[in-house]
Amino acid sequence: MKTQYYTATSLDGFIATEDDSLEWLFPLGDVNETTYPEFIAGVGALAMGSGTYEWMMRNAEQVVAEVGSPWPYTQPTWVFTSRELPKIEGADLRFVQGDVRTVHEEMRAAAGDKNLWVVGGGGLAGQFYDAGLLDEIIVQVGSVTLGKGKPLFPRHATRAFKLTAVKQLGTGLVELRYDVRGDAPAEVGA
Ligand SMILES: NC(=O)c1ccc[n+]([C@@H]2O[C@H](COP(=O)([O-])OP(=O)(O)OC[C@H]3O[C@@H](n4cnc5c(N)ncnc54)[C@H](OP(=O)(O)O)[C@@H]3O)[C@@H](O)[C@H]2O)c1
Repeated sequence: MKTQYYTATSLDGFIATEDDSLEWLFPLGDVNETTYPEFIAGVGALAMGSGTYEWMMRNAEQVVAEVGSPWPYTQPTWVFTSRELPKIEGADLRFVQGDVRTVHEEMRAAAGDKNLWVVGGGGLAGQFYDAGLLDEIIVQVGSVTLGKGKPLFPRHATRAFKLTAVKQLGTGLVELRYDVRGDAPAEVGA
């Protein structure tokens, strides 16, 4: 069972624009033609930051149009926030704050033998990485640059990650898979 940060980024390393738009991403490929259906089938619990959760709230109509309900996940989800946020109808949610290690234990217990998905953003994925809890980064790199925005992974890794797979998804996306814990090929300079 792995803890995976599965996300999409622009070529210059942003997962959303500065004002949290993902409109740049959708024209780049059809999610059903990516690895997502297989990936989500292996997920037993989700963690996300409040920025990601608020995107779901703001775009509920679009989510309903795509999946028939305002919340697309059946798995329990932990939302990190220091604020009180409204619950999305039909979602199995826990609002939490503070140390990711405590939450990771709860997620592991809930997920059985399935994987844990750190949905984002990059800062939250970085907290799991800092705690030594992140196993894999799976990133779909879009054929587009944004110039600025919300960063993919705002951390300085002291060892290079190990690239384990590369998959072209049409002309708009390429998926890169990294083992974050595995034997790294090289030290990274400070
Ligand atoms: N391209 C993609 O596939 C993809 C994937 C995921 C997300 N996104 C997008 O990326 C953007 C989100 O980026 P983001 O940088 O805002 O990240 P985020 O991780 O969604 O949200 C960060 C916020 O979560 C809360 N938080 C994080 N860690 C916490 C902790 N340990 N304890 C308590 N609260 C904590 C804090 O907000 P408060 O305490 O103020 O609530 C923090 O400001 C959204 O627009 C989202 O839609 C894109």
